[in-house]
Amino acid sequence: MFAAVNYVRFTGRLWSRGFARLRRLHGSRLSSTTADKIPHSSEVEAAVAADVAGVAACKGPPTVAKLAPRLQTVRVYRWNPETPNVKPYMQQFSVDLNKCGTMVLDVLGLIKAQHDPTLSYRRSCREGICGCCAMNIDGVNTLACITKVKESPQPLVVYPLPHAYVIRDLVPDMEQFLSQFRQIDPYLKRPGEDSFLGMRQILQSPRDRSKLDGLYECIMCACCTYSCPPYWWLGDKYLGPAVLLQAYRWVIDSRDTAHKERLAKLRDFYSVYRCKTIFNCTKTCPKGLNPGKAIAQLKRLLAGLMKKEKPDLETTLPNPCHGEEQYPCRKE
Ligand code: SF4
Ligand code: SF4
Ligand code: FES
Repeated sequence: MFAAVNYVRFTGRLWSRGFARLRRLHGSRLSSTTADKIPHSSEVEAAVAADVAGVAACKGPPTVAKLAPRLQTVRVYRWNPETPNVKPYMQQFSVDLNKCGTMVLDVLGLIKAQHDPTLSYRRSCREGICGCCAMNIDGVNTLACITKVKESPQPLVVYPLPHAYVIRDLVPDMEQFLSQFRQIDPYLKRPGEDSFLGMRQILQSPRDRSKLDGLYECIMCACCTYSCPPYWWLGDKYLGPAVLLQAYRWVIDSRDTAHKERLAKLRDFYSVYRCKTIFNCTKTCPKGLNPGKAIAQLKRLLAGLMKKEKPDLETTLPNPCHGEEQYPCRKE
């Protein structure tokens, strides 16, 4: 008898504890006046069902407000060498800007992915570093990957770099440009020191290093070269702003000792002096460099109005006979 009474008390306590917990969980959803009142099983089921429905609702995908399409007309230059009888033409696309990134390269990617997979263009880094995606966008030579699309009723017009031969669509032939770049030997030269290569660090002071600022950042995208009118007409003889900026970069590098030989190679009627200081190159450079100024400095060096400064630090090299002795490498 005593055990039966205890059992009833015990189960009663369990019910009331469970019900109090349910009340805490579900608040007013349970209709009860006292915590001790045992809930009706249908009330508990309803509360559990409501909970399950709530959890299911939480786990569902977030409701995304449907955006109205932001349509932009894009006109792209097309030419396919496999159909040489079809003249180059401008193809028009209507692109939803909600479906791609903010840059012109993203728009071209969307066109290629969703409208016409045969569209050809170069790209690699999509960070404004490799220089591949240079093209003419709304009349300006620039990099597609760092040019924002302006939403406008006017079409976005994309051509390949002007006055370059076209391989296909937006892909220009850069062979001439790159062979001119090779002509200027774009690497460190220290004539007569080949046997010391890799044996000593070639030193440069911070002041000498700072002379390369505004030059070393050039990514050889050729936007400047193909915006230069003299290069359009005499591109086979005139080196153009990008290559000349690089030539100047190596001439004034304090570690390079071949500046006289470099300048001698440029001293002719066409290589440098076709620059008419129009500064289209500087205006268009997507990296904010000033090739026009570099060419003006080259002209001063060529004319003897300016001399290359002696390096602040002499680089010493080991004597190949004894290994210990050192001597300065530079003899002006
Ligand atoms: S100077 Fe500017 S525009 Fe010209 S190649 Fe270099 S980065 Fe490109
Ligand atoms: S400044 Fe010289 S290199 Fe630059 S666009 Fe004018 S002519 Fe060409
Ligand atoms: S993709 Fe490299 S500069 Fe645009």
